[in-house]
Amino acid sequence: MNNADTYLKKVAVLIDSVLENLLPSETVYPTSIHTLMRYSTFAGGKRVRPALVMAAHEACGGKFGDEMAILAGAALEMFHTFSLIHDDLPCMDDDDFRRGKPTAHRAFTEALAVLGGDALCIFAFECLAKTGRTDLIAEIAQALGTHGMLGGQVVDIESENKPIDRQTIEYIHKNKTAALIRASLRAGAMLAQASDEELAHISAYGNAVGLAFQVVDDILDEEGTTEQLGKDAGSDRAKGKATFPAVVGIPESKKYAAELITRATAEAAYFGKRGELLKDLANFIRDRVS
Ligand code: IPE
Ligand code: IPE
Ligand code: MG
Ligand code: MG
Ligand code: MG
Repeated sequence: MNNADTYLKKVAVLIDSVLENLLPSETVYPTSIHTLMRYSTFAGGKRVRPALVMAAHEACGGKFGDEMAILAGAALEMFHTFSLIHDDLPCMDDDDFRRGKPTAHRAFTEALAVLGGDALCIFAFECLAKTGRTDLIAEIAQALGTHGMLGGQVVDIESENKPIDRQTIEYIHKNKTAALIRASLRAGAMLAQASDEELAHISAYGNAVGLAFQVVDDILDEEGTTEQLGKDAGSDRAKGKATFPAVVGIPESKKYAAELITRATAEAAYFGKRGELLKDLANFIRDRVS
């Protein structure tokens, strides 16, 4: 196992135990929504966003296991899970599998999947509030809103079965995916009291790995299997989704992902030895198979 794999495992154990304690128990009324929130959160998932929170925190001088960074990491994973539940809905991507299991609306009902997604998002803000950092809350709210993830999702949906150009696909990917990834990194850095210069390098790293993450996701949708991905392979082409391979082809998409990761590792190098993990996580994002 390389550094990134080991780190992701270590973060997953930590974050899962924190989420286990934070999330309302399945026995708490109304039990159906609490069961759904846990079903989607603990279905699996690579825990990339919490790992990026922690790695940026460490790169800026923070300690692994810092309570506030763990709380922010857990919140980021809940925001992400909320985005996946809604992304899979029949009115959105209409997918049947997620994290190796039936999607939330398949396992429960569509109404409960909408409400469970809402609940995870709202509960994540409640958890973030415990850090007492309004700058962090504003940062993440912005990354999730219409100038971030939601903006990207709107243009993603409105671009289905339409010819789109490179500028539009860049807008979609930067917003629907890179915005929350960058905010995860900035949250970790901000909790370590990063300097403006450190934050600028973390942001540039986040822009590059965030965009690369979605380009690779598009490539995997074309080249991977449902079993390997734990979600419906080939779903993008079947639904006429706006993807990088659809706009520029697979070879150019791979070349672009590699270029973005080179850009990210150059930013990670600014942090010297403390930035090694950021470099390894960037390479993981390029080379991952699920
Ligand atoms: C999938 O994210 C959705 C995208 C933004 C591409 P991940 O690939 O991080 O999914 P999980 O959390 O591991 O399931
Ligand atoms: C996901 O993009 C972006 C989100 C905000 C969830 P995709 O629609 O490509 O993600 P997957 O492939 O369903 O995980
Ligand atoms: Mg989508
Ligand atoms: Mg989708
Ligand atoms: Mg995808």
